Amino acid sequence: MKITSAKFIKGVVGDDEILGNGIPQIAFIGRSNVGKSSVINSLTGVKDLARTSSFPGRTQEINLFLINNKFYLVDLPGYGYAKMSNAGRDAIADLINSYFFHSTYEQEKVVLIIDANVGFTDKDLGMLRTLEEHGKNVIIVANKVDKLKTNEFRKQMKKIEDMTLGHVIVPYSAMKKTGIKELLKEIFN
Ligand code: GTP
Ligand code: MG
Repeated sequence: MKITSAKFIKGVVGDDEILGNGIPQIAFIGRSNVGKSSVINSLTGVKDLARTSSFPGRTQEINLFLINNKFYLVDLPGYGYAKMSNAGRDAIADLINSYFFHSTYEQEKVVLIIDANVGFTDKDLGMLRTLEEHGKNVIIVANKVDKLKTNEFRKQMKKIEDMTLGHVIVPYSAMKKTGIKELLKEIFN
């Protein structure tokens, strides 16, 4: 599958008809600043499609991008941003939960992005377990592998694999644009 067109459709902040309109969705979730928006840009080859920032908390809405006029890539706000107010964090958590666990919204695949350098945090594991409990089809992306030297890379990947038995893990660098082919294959197979 090749991505030939990508366009921003809408940002939503809660229930919205568009989320239940039957067009298949691939959702991107992960801690704030882990590179969800950057991964979407690198996958589509459109540099500024999704807004990115070096500061956590950039994406505040559920952003839908229509790909090949056939399906949506869904860019979600990140969880676990420590410096956000409690109310802000609760609002983001509510938004994420209401999207994933709404009875009429469905995701074809959920791409859970973690930082290859950091590995699974407690929050990442919590998210993974919750997605599993709801029967979601999860692909794990270990982003920012460009930060790791070869021997560290091996060690980190082994650790990540040990914690996620049964899931596909795709090493990725949105910055260096590596792992794109592998991730597209996992999303569309
Ligand atoms: P929120 O929307 O705030 O949750 O963040 P996000 O997960 O969408 O992250 P975003 O794509 O905005 O990227 C956050 C920061 O990480 C930016 O400074 C990016 O340039 C950087 N970044 C993203 N991917 C990579 C990568 O593969 N390697 C490196 N070294 N940096 C990356
Ligand atoms: Mg973002």
